[in-house]
Amino acid sequence: MARVKHAVTVSLWLLTSTGTTLAGETRQLVKMPEPMQEHMLGNMRDHVMALDLILAHLAAKEWTMAADVAEQRLGLSSLDRHGASHMAGFMPKAMQDIGTSMHRAASRFALRAQEGELEPAVAALRDVTAACVACHAGYRIR
Ligand code: HEC
Repeated sequence: MARVKHAVTVSLWLLTSTGTTLAGETRQLVKMPEPMQEHMLGNMRDHVMALDLILAHLAAKEWTMAADVAEQRLGLSSLDRHGASHMAGFMPKAMQDIGTSMHRAASRFALRAQEGELEPAVAALRDVTAACVACHAGYRIR
């Protein structure tokens, strides 16, 4: 019962904090040309696939593989692959900063993962997902 209550509290909190409140849309609309939007959403789908793969590697204690996926697909090494410098120009500064914090957090996670200890690695991975959530709560492109 306590657990159900907790779940309800959490869902209510999510409802009021993800930008789509009962009072309407609170996320800032960031305008960018159509092809850029497609590119950005493609990157995003890759982000969530990367997270999935990272968790699979962590579960299998494949530390180096978890670290490699994080660094290459989400970390500072992924900036070129994602055309980040190109895209950043369309984003408000605060949004860019969240993006940068996500890339940094992913690179920090990669270092932690290589140390082969689950707890610090998971804590570092949570900093990555916190950046996903922060940006999604604040911005939309359509
Ligand atoms: C700097 C901002 C930012 C960060 C950081 C960010 N996203 Fe996004 N993401 C967006 C925006 C903006 C959209 C589009 C929202 C809209 O307009 O509906 C989006 C959309 C998505 C989508 C939907 C893609 C589609 O095809 O519709 C997924 C999945 C996603 N993000 C996953 C992630 C994951 C996982 C992370 C973290 C690892 C992440 N994002 C980090 C800004 C961000």
